[in-house]
Amino acid sequence: MKKYLNRLEKELKGLIHLAADIASKNNMRAYLVGGFVRDLILGVKNLDLDIVIDGDGVKFAEEFAKALKARLICHRRFRTATCIIFESNLKVDIATVRKEFYPHPAHLPIVSSGTLKDDLGRRDFTINAMAISINKGDFGRLIDFYNGKSDLGHKGVRILHDLSFIDDPTRILRAIRFEKRYNFRIESRTLECLKKAVKLKMLDKVQPQRLRDELIPILKEGYPLKYLRRMQELAGCSFINWNLFVSSQTHRLLRSIEKQIIWFKEGCLAERQSDYWLIYLMGLLYSLDLKDVKLICRKFVFRKQEEKILLTYKRNSSKVVGKLNQGKIKPSTVFCLFKPLSYEEIIFIKASYNKRNIQKYIEDFLKIYNGIRIQICGEDLKKLGLAPGPSYQKILSRVLNAKLNGAVKTKGDELALIKKLGVVK
Ligand code: CTP
Repeated sequence: MKKYLNRLEKELKGLIHLAADIASKNNMRAYLVGGFVRDLILGVKNLDLDIVIDGDGVKFAEEFAKALKARLICHRRFRTATCIIFESNLKVDIATVRKEFYPHPAHLPIVSSGTLKDDLGRRDFTINAMAISINKGDFGRLIDFYNGKSDLGHKGVRILHDLSFIDDPTRILRAIRFEKRYNFRIESRTLECLKKAVKLKMLDKVQPQRLRDELIPILKEGYPLKYLRRMQELAGCSFINWNLFVSSQTHRLLRSIEKQIIWFKEGCLAERQSDYWLIYLMGLLYSLDLKDVKLICRKFVFRKQEEKILLTYKRNSSKVVGKLNQGKIKPSTVFCLFKPLSYEEIIFIKASYNKRNIQKYIEDFLKIYNGIRIQICGEDLKKLGLAPGPSYQKILSRVLNAKLNGAVKTKGDELALIKKLGVVK
């Protein structure tokens, strides 16, 4: 694997050599594992290093983070740690080699110390169960007990043992994610086991937050439609909500969302980052009523802000669209209707309402109105002799409305308007 490691960026190579030195100094053995090894062989960029330590993983992590002056989050109980290197956007997950035992299907496993072989043997798929030694003497040696490299070669997603999906049903969603992400196939025996686990309703037995933590990465995959289709085909969507089904109408909507997100990213005046995955989730849940969406938010414990976006869309979008449909409306009215909404909601409305006038209003808002600024500010109002107070906001928004409607252009026009409003002498 040396030639693969040599191809890595300088910064990643530096981290690997640092890890090797610290392990060797402490008489520990260190290995690269999991998704990092998989992506290294596939030639896919991956900035999340996954290291397992045969020794004291937390002690290793403390020294590693200290040497890098990086932030460290330790989970001593699990003997794992995450090291975050902000400047380079790199993350290093460090764990102590461990064995896992599932006392009950679909529950979290009981963890105890083990060997590297145990650690690789507890994993989800052969393609994620390889390790590369970074130890002196065998630096770069691939350790592949389960033929992961061969599965990568013939593009197969394969579990390590038949009970894998029963032990951890979240792997059903992971199998779909890896299959679609890399254009692989879930291998036939694995597919049989997956279907058996679905039939046994294993997805209903997992803690919902764990399902959420696998569903969000699917929605973050960029073009999630093909993943959601496969999810519907293999597992259905009832584990999200009993009434949920990915219909051909959902397909059309998700495709339209894909298109609108591309359009938005290409040239809109956004003041903050958007959570595009949430828009796909709105699309997936579109056919459900507000009561079911509320139930989903509660079940999966979404963050407050995420929940707010999911629910306000359900409550508000038809009202907004209704107002936009009342004949020709002024730019300032369009602005006032869209300004309180999140970008996620606006993109969703654009994707779900195909009418030309709605499309045009949203394009004008995102490409023009949202970037219009007035030139006067509070300081100017003070100079005009107006006492500071809540009236400032009202006056400034009246000036902004006038500017949006083309009634004022220059700073002189803005000042003249204020005088005309009769709020100053
Ligand atoms: N893993 C597992 N079973 C799970 C989750 C994770 O066996 N239910 C193991 C896999 O070996 C995986 C590793 O833990 O490679 C790290 O998990 P994660 O970071 O979720 O996945 P990655 O493989 O790194 O994939 P991604 O590129 O999506 O981050």
